Amino acid sequence: MHKIALLRGDGIGPEIVEEAKKVLEALGAVLDIRFEFCEALIGGCAYEKYKKPLPDETIEIAHRCDAVLLGAVGDWKYDTLPNELRPEKALLGIRKELNLFANLRPVVIFDELISSSALKPQIIKGTDIVIVRELTGDVYFGTPKGMEVRLDSEGRGVRYAYNNMIYSEKEIERIAHVAFKTAQSRRKKLCSVDKANVLDVSQLWREIITYVSKQYPDVELSHMYVDNAAMQLIANPKQFDTIVTGNIFGDILSDEASMISGSLGLLPSASMSYDGSVALYEPIHGSAPDLRGQNAANPIATILSAAMMMKYSFKNNEAYEIIFNAVKGVLSEGYRTKDIFKEGDKLVSTSQMGDAICEKISR
Ligand code: IPM
Ligand code: MG
Repeated sequence: MHKIALLRGDGIGPEIVEEAKKVLEALGAVLDIRFEFCEALIGGCAYEKYKKPLPDETIEIAHRCDAVLLGAVGDWKYDTLPNELRPEKALLGIRKELNLFANLRPVVIFDELISSSALKPQIIKGTDIVIVRELTGDVYFGTPKGMEVRLDSEGRGVRYAYNNMIYSEKEIERIAHVAFKTAQSRRKKLCSVDKANVLDVSQLWREIITYVSKQYPDVELSHMYVDNAAMQLIANPKQFDTIVTGNIFGDILSDEASMISGSLGLLPSASMSYDGSVALYEPIHGSAPDLRGQNAANPIATILSAAMMMKYSFKNNEAYEIIFNAVKGVLSEGYRTKDIFKEGDKLVSTSQMGDAICEKISR
């Protein structure tokens, strides 16, 4: 039996997680796997009930389960809360709490959706990238951080705010190993993205990545500055195989990379600690509060996140393929949620997309 914590979160989170749950149940029926789902609150909905976005109970439930499936957190109505109470803080909190330092974000291109991308088909066709994003360090977690008033030369108070972009060599080394192993399982090319022409933290990053590369002579390593990487991803995405980068660069580049596939609603992710403990699966997109409750969001990123769960947490490649092919099948029949809809397609709701994928779940 597989025990899965469902952390639906805010905005479209509950709706998209519901579809992924349906798909897992359909999969369970076909492959004779039993799933047990435990619900827990995270983000704004948890704040409403417990006055904290990440209740202890949620962490306990996550620890007790084999894997976590998360929707999304956040809503504009919490934008005025102090930083510590904001829904986003819960996401960072659970990543830290479960030590999920490695975030894999595959950029999957479905041939069926090539025309949905803003980029030309000949540029994107054949693109297959995995971004390995470090997830528990960098400017997201660095201290000191904060806001304070300092006096200027005329004695007037001026507010300053700051965060610390900081990595230890240990943190860089462990993500490097994940990245090289990921590259080894693919086309054996790793591009490390940093800003070593300006930042000290990136100079250490580059040094450690280069040092670790000696243990992986079969992987071809290159380095690229993040500004150039942002440009190259659009100009020639096919040059990339595996990308490794820090937390904030990975956040930005993965949103950018989602546009190669056509929609932010398509990209799944897996966050792991590689010590055999619980891993977390979530779409890379946010909670899209403007779409909440409209049954209009694209559930595919979350459904593919569930597929990644089958592969990485439950080591079931067949299940991964079944879900992936079901999504592909539905797309090839022309079903599209609003975000990827074009004239001539069959427009479907969130739940209709989920149902159509469930129907295609078979051996
Ligand atoms: C992501 C998101 C989060 C992040 C936010 C919601 C805190 O953008 O998972 O990419 O920045 O990591
Ligand atoms: Mg992001």
